[in-house]
Amino acid sequence: MEHQSLVKKACDYIFSHQEQVKRGNYPDFHLAAPYGWINDPNGFCYALGKYHIFYQHYPYDAKWGPMHWGHATSADLIHWDHQKVALAPSEPYDKDGCFSGSAIEFDDKLYLIYTGHVWLKEPGNDDAIREVQCLAVSEDGINFKKLGVIIEPPSNIMHFRDPKVFREEDHFALVLGARIPKDDGFDEAQVLKYTSTDLKTWHLQGPILKAPAHEAFMYECPDTFPLDGKQVIALSPMGLKPYGIERNNPSINSYAISDNKDLFDAKDLTEIDSGHDFYASQTMQSPDGRRIMLAWLTMWKLPFASYDDAWCGMLTLPRELSLKDGKLIQKPISEVTSLFKKERNFGRIDLENATFSLKKEFKPCKINFSVNLQEATAETLGLSVDEALTLYFDRQHQELTLLRREKGSFSPRSIKVNLNKPLEVEIFLDKSSIEVFVNGGEHTFTSTYYSGKRDDLYLFAHNGQASFDEVKVTNLKKVLKKKRLTLD
Ligand code: FRU
Repeated sequence: MEHQSLVKKACDYIFSHQEQVKRGNYPDFHLAAPYGWINDPNGFCYALGKYHIFYQHYPYDAKWGPMHWGHATSADLIHWDHQKVALAPSEPYDKDGCFSGSAIEFDDKLYLIYTGHVWLKEPGNDDAIREVQCLAVSEDGINFKKLGVIIEPPSNIMHFRDPKVFREEDHFALVLGARIPKDDGFDEAQVLKYTSTDLKTWHLQGPILKAPAHEAFMYECPDTFPLDGKQVIALSPMGLKPYGIERNNPSINSYAISDNKDLFDAKDLTEIDSGHDFYASQTMQSPDGRRIMLAWLTMWKLPFASYDDAWCGMLTLPRELSLKDGKLIQKPISEVTSLFKKERNFGRIDLENATFSLKKEFKPCKINFSVNLQEATAETLGLSVDEALTLYFDRQHQELTLLRREKGSFSPRSIKVNLNKPLEVEIFLDKSSIEVFVNGGEHTFTSTYYSGKRDDLYLFAHNGQASFDEVKVTNLKKVLKKKRLTLD
């Protein structure tokens, strides 16, 4: 079938099935598909007068399948409107999936650069694939026409995907992830850079990052951008093993900083987020010059909890990036204030072997507090979302941990904290996800949660005393809960 007919088929399917989505865990203010599956954010940009986010999408079921590009637009990055599916697999070069990629405005048109994926043997056999980079264009920002293949892989490379396009001096550039086969059987991950003057003809410049031997075998979704006088690369390495309290997710999202935009050192790679579910981040520059990032708020290789709910996967809140003392700082974008409803200010709460309930009924909300850790004597102190999640400081290990309860078991993620400064926490709590910003965005925890009661929200100090300062709970608007795809 022709591309436009396949797009129409996908939209009609979503339109006629979206009321079947079970709303129990469906996010109130994080973007999820109106029906079906989401993974990576794609084509995050400001173009033709509005913000666009596209995403890896299977519109026919709540599971991964032949990838389409879903699409939503917004004036403020918070209130999103679902748009028509932008890309559907339709051509010999992308017949098994329009994989991840990016977008750029040029000559008053919106261009998408994405990976065309083909299984050469049976579907799912990663040892026999073909991946090429493809171009599509739109004049209205909604209807896309495919323009064909623009970059073929170098001979011997099969895994070759996720182009991120950007402007550089007087030309365009893009980076993508490549898996280079090695004789010893452990392939080497590389980020390759290409340049172009017209988005159609591209020249390979070479690798800007190579994995050390026997470390990562593939870098998915690379993205590179200038930030506060340095150059940052963010990517999702495959093949890394857990290392102490780091890299404990099946899939990891890391960044490195360099003085040279064309050369990064894999030894500098640091995890971006310390929670359970943060992958395939992508950034864009807003018209006022901010660097804004979001990511897939779900994780490969784990059971997908909302699988049976006719939706699966969502995106994080957009975060503004900056650098401080050689580290990446992530803050919720200032536009999040448009979500705020009633605020309750509790001031200071002193607890000794006690709990204090902030809310007895689940409502999407933002929670703020700070604790002077040196003064607190409690063995553990923190905040619990009923039986589902606990964020706690553990004095013995000097760690802050987000503990997720999982049907009869539990899963911790931790960071080391400095006792010499107050611990400041800002939390965005949605139906089935939490985003925690620690000490003004020096660390973040981003996680989904699906099991356990979640009504009561309470502070606690266990085996000792703790004072929680500036405790505030702000109710948040359910801006995305009722959004549906409309057809014209
Ligand atoms: C990352 C990823 C990408 C690929 C896409 C396919 O999550 O595996 O490398 O383009 O998802 O959906």
